[in-house]
Amino acid sequence: MSASSLPSSSQERTPILELEVLAEKAANAFRPFLGPEGFDLAQYQQFLNTMYHYTARSGEMIQHAGSKAHDEELKQFFKYMCNEEQGHYLLAKEDLKELGGEVSEAIPQSVQDFHHTWFSLGDTIYAYLGAIYVFENIAKHVQKEGKDLFARLNLNKKQRRWVAVHLEADLVHGDEIIDLCSRYFDNNPSACLEGGRAMCDCWINVFTHFGRA
Ligand SMILES: [Fe+2]
Repeated sequence: MSASSLPSSSQERTPILELEVLAEKAANAFRPFLGPEGFDLAQYQQFLNTMYHYTARSGEMIQHAGSKAHDEELKQFFKYMCNEEQGHYLLAKEDLKELGGEVSEAIPQSVQDFHHTWFSLGDTIYAYLGAIYVFENIAKHVQKEGKDLFARLNLNKKQRRWVAVHLEADLVHGDEIIDLCSRYFDNNPSACLEGGRAMCDCWINVFTHFGRA
């Protein structure tokens, strides 16, 4: 969540088409919930609760992925990502508090599925690179819709930090993982795509089951 960016040797940013398609597919599942027929205030609170749980283990999850890194550049990247992401769950909790809500003790099933999938991605770093590529490139597809949601629900700044931070920070994170994958994807395309597909499915799963426990 710091303002710093990742030092990069090349800044190539050649997007990987197959992963871009998955990121857009994931964004398409989210978009209707942001639009005019999307979340009402109660559903937005439920979404924040889900995102609290969804991001609660980010630090641990990124460290798990980073433990598979086999060179200095990848190790540095995962260390940086851990710093960027690990406090975000608190934003969801605080946003919810501002709206008079509280996070649940129970972890939604879609989040439990996500955690299980993440820790089962296998021993290669490439699956995690594909997964992160997809996650970090969702926000660029819903920039306008996110801001429309703030206006439609009349959310003040303290009630929208989780979404606002991701809309902004993930534009940078999205470019950073594109840059990294420009250089690593060809080492193991099938593992990268497998990770990307798994994470796309996890994100869609949140909305398929939204409204249920
Ligand atoms: Fe991010």
